Amino acid sequence: MTPLKARIAAKIQTDGALSLNDYMAMALSDPDDGYYMQRVPFGAPTDAGGDFTTAPEVSQMFGELVGAWCIDLWDRMDRPSTVNLIELGPGRGTLMADMLRVAVQVPAFSAQLQVHFIETSPALREEQKKRVPKARWHETLDTLPPNVQHDDAVTLVIANEFFDALPITQHEYTGNGWREIAVDIENDELVYARTPPHAPAFSDVQTALLPTTMKSGDIIEASAGREKVMQQLSALLMRTRGAALIIDYGYSQPQTGDSFQAMRHHEFVHPLAEPGAADLTAHVNFAVLARIAANAGLHAHPTAQQGSFLRALGLDQRATQLANVTPEAGNKIMSERDRLAAPDQMGHLFKVLGVRHPDLPALAGFVANAPPEETPAEETL
Ligand SMILES: C[S@@+](CC[C@H](N)C(=O)[O-])C[C@H]1O[C@@H](n2cnc3c(N)ncnc32)[C@H](O)[C@@H]1O
Repeated sequence: MTPLKARIAAKIQTDGALSLNDYMAMALSDPDDGYYMQRVPFGAPTDAGGDFTTAPEVSQMFGELVGAWCIDLWDRMDRPSTVNLIELGPGRGTLMADMLRVAVQVPAFSAQLQVHFIETSPALREEQKKRVPKARWHETLDTLPPNVQHDDAVTLVIANEFFDALPITQHEYTGNGWREIAVDIENDELVYARTPPHAPAFSDVQTALLPTTMKSGDIIEASAGREKVMQQLSALLMRTRGAALIIDYGYSQPQTGDSFQAMRHHEFVHPLAEPGAADLTAHVNFAVLARIAANAGLHAHPTAQQGSFLRALGLDQRATQLANVTPEAGNKIMSERDRLAAPDQMGHLFKVLGVRHPDLPALAGFVANAPPEETPAEETL
């Protein structure tokens, strides 16, 4: 039993079953034993200690294209004199390091740039310092200094695989009320339990975006934590005339289903088996995030699939360019391109939500007036 599992079991014995939200929050962010707090979990299957990988860790091209996206927007915004570039959950700092390598090609952009990281993990902050030493670190968007929140400075925000790490709750539809799925203890093992049926405590946005038809046994996932961050982010972008890219796995239209999952050493494991030792995530409901942004007054572009977004930004051209410069690495670069964009790899499952202040020009990478690019339900949940 992991030390955290013993503490969770003791808490359940004293206080009763834990909501999935509280279980996930403890498993990921407990200051002593939370998954992200003391370790660096990124790595290929061959790396000792690596549990999963992410797009910026797959290829430098991901960060380069996101960096070019920022420069393009800044240029079309008439080159504001101060830009705060904020990343939520920067992991090892690889994405920002790749973005900044592109940014230095445009000195008028990079010279005035201020980089801010929102990161709670002390171990990952150390990693980020190695790659982006000049960044400034903050616990939440709310603790950004007043000059970032209220200045004339423009804000650009990037979040890659951040929202999927924020806790969720699960609710089972019964046809006669909802039963929340909780974590209980049975024979010294953590098990799922269900509360008695009751009226749901969904937010107004979640309620408005429930699927139109549901049958008994269907599961809805909700996340007060994700909604709160999206509200903070939207308020910041409205105040500072900013824009954000949110990239993650998830779905663009209301869906039912259980997407709560745990990963360790690149294998799926039971989410209750090893709290603190396995990564826990759930798919992101982009419809909810987009609606929160729109309610705040932002323009939300229809969600794009990661593959088409990166290709629209020039992924194929960049891959060819890199392969020409280093022919010996050509096969590796083309396989990285496929990993990021192929429909059966990250290309369809991962989505990109772009939101912007209404005064800003259209964001690159999104096709004008396109419907949201959805993935069949069986591929997502
Ligand atoms: C899956 S990793 C993604 C890392 C990186 N964006 C990448 O693509 O490689 C999730 C990141 O979010 C951070 N994180 C998780 N929960 C957080 C929270 N509540 N507040 C701030 N950062 C958080 C983690 O420490 C980690 O840096």
